[in-house]
Amino acid sequence: MNVGIIGSGTMGSGIAQVAATAGCKVNLYDTNQAALDKAKSSLNKILLRLIEKGRIDESEKSRIQGKISYVNNLKELSDSDLTIEAIVEELDIKKKVFSELETYVSNECIIASNTSSLSIASIASSLQKPERCIGIHFFNPAPLMKLVEVIPAIQTSQEILHKSIDTISDWKKVVAVAKDTPGFIVNRVARPFYGEALRIYEEGLADFATIDWSMKTLGGFKMGPFELMDFIGNDVNYTVTESVFKAFYYDPRYKPAFTQMRFAEAGYLGRKSGKGYYDY
Ligand SMILES: NC(=O)c1ccc[n+]([C@@H]2O[C@H](COP(=O)([O-])OP(=O)(O)OC[C@H]3O[C@@H](n4cnc5c(N)ncnc54)[C@H](O)[C@@H]3O)[C@@H](O)[C@H]2O)c1
Repeated sequence: MNVGIIGSGTMGSGIAQVAATAGCKVNLYDTNQAALDKAKSSLNKILLRLIEKGRIDESEKSRIQGKISYVNNLKELSDSDLTIEAIVEELDIKKKVFSELETYVSNECIIASNTSSLSIASIASSLQKPERCIGIHFFNPAPLMKLVEVIPAIQTSQEILHKSIDTISDWKKVVAVAKDTPGFIVNRVARPFYGEALRIYEEGLADFATIDWSMKTLGGFKMGPFELMDFIGNDVNYTVTESVFKAFYYDPRYKPAFTQMRFAEAGYLGRKSGKGYYDY
């Protein structure tokens, strides 16, 4: 299977690794050459670490790397059977990329989005054949997280839904079919997890480290909310919060926090920028 991935950031590069490991030929596309270079060198480091841990050998590393081409022209995705978009969480930009992409790929190609919060119906409406559009939502880090939400829009055909489920299952992931509602399942549950932690901080009840410590030590979570937000990226996470809040008709349960907005505005994005709620 030929897979085209749009956006070589945190998610796109991880999804490329998953697809290549499963034996697919991958074209990983980004408009930013630095992002493509970073994706390539990060994959090299990740695979070297897997060799050190004895999980793969040199030949498996070469096989995976040989499956991925790093491309800076959307046309290079024309031979794709499946494309997965993982660019910035902005509806208008995604729609523009989708309608251009459709002019290059075959009529049979599945066009999927990894959006965390946007309406798949709305993204699908940018296509001439909206029935081929679907949400395929991986979690971060994509190679490690087992769950993938598959989200059919009201326009999505049953054939595309079943093909998508089969493909993602072949990639050794566990599929949850979710409805096309804001945040789907996991991000809807996760919004109040972050939001309430930010409110606890803003009310002066505890600092970031204490809140994280409580959730990990007492709550049994693997990561605390601030560690997790830094891991996701405060820009991406803030945009998703805002988008879910608006999409739920400004339900106060999903209200974003000023702290998170200021961190995103300041460029304190978390791990990827070296500074967030913690220093890296
Ligand atoms: N970060 C997470 O934990 C996470 C988890 C699940 C889903 N998502 C979703 O995945 C998507 C990507 O998130 P991310 O964290 O990987 O973002 P990111 O900022 O790490 O990467 C986005 C990449 O897209 C590229 N890009 C932007 N506009 C583009 C365009 N028009 N054409 C081609 N490339 C373009 C950027 O250069 C960048 O490399 C978003 O929709 C986000 O909501 C993110």
